[in-house]
Amino acid sequence: MRILVAYYSRSGITRGVAEALAARLDADLAPIEETSQRQGIRGYLRSALEARRGVMPELLPERHDPLRYDLVVIGTPVWFGHVSSPVRSYLHAHRGAIRQAAFFCTLGGRGAERAFDDMRDALGLEPVHCEAFLDHDIAGETHYAALERFAGFLRAAAMIAPPARRPESPDVRTPRHP
Ligand SMILES: Cc1cc2nc3c(=O)[nH]c(=O)nc-3n(C[C@H](O)[C@H](O)[C@H](O)COP(=O)(O)O)c2cc1C
Repeated sequence: MRILVAYYSRSGITRGVAEALAARLDADLAPIEETSQRQGIRGYLRSALEARRGVMPELLPERHDPLRYDLVVIGTPVWFGHVSSPVRSYLHAHRGAIRQAAFFCTLGGRGAERAFDDMRDALGLEPVHCEAFLDHDIAGETHYAALERFAGFLRAAAMIAPPARRPESPDVRTPRHP
C-alpha cells in the first residue's frame, strides 16, 4: 500500500503533524509549495484575503504524483474559517484524479468543519476521514493519541483502497510454433 501525505504549512505547525503522520504510516511526504512567499504581516493579510475569497495561488511543480498512491492525506492550516489557499489550489489541480483521500487541519480553535467542506468541494471527493488538531494540543503534545488513532484508520483505509489504474500491459502473445 502506498500513502502520500501532502500538506501546506506557513509557520510549521501543520508540517510537524504531517511529518509525524508520515513517519507512522511509512508514507511519502509532499510539501505543497508556492511560487511566492507569504511571510510577515503582508503575507498574513494576503492569506486572510485569499482564504475568504477562494483564491487559488500558483504552486511549484510537484515531486510526487498523487495518482500513484492508494491514499492521499492532505493537511492544511485553517485560515479565517477556510482551507488555506495553497491547499485549495492543490486539491483543485487534482480534482477527479485522486482515488481516495483523507483530510486533516490544524487550527487555533474555530473553523475546521467549513475548512473540510472547502476541501471536499475543491477535490470533488468525499474523504474517508477528517481530523482536526488544535494548536494548543500540539504545543502541549497531548495530540498524540488522536494522531495514533488517525494513523490506524488511514492504514486500514489504504489497505482496502479501490484498485489502482495500471498502465496498459504490453500485448504479450504466446508465440505460435508451426
Ligand atoms: C491568515 C490566518 C488565518 C487564521 N485563521 C484561523 C481561524 O479562522 N481559526 C483558527 O482556529 N485558527 C486560525 N489561524 C491559526 C492557524 O490555523 C493555526 O495556527 C495553524 O496551526 C497554523 O498552521 P501552520 O503553522 O502550519 O501554518 C489562522 C492563521 C493565519 C495565518
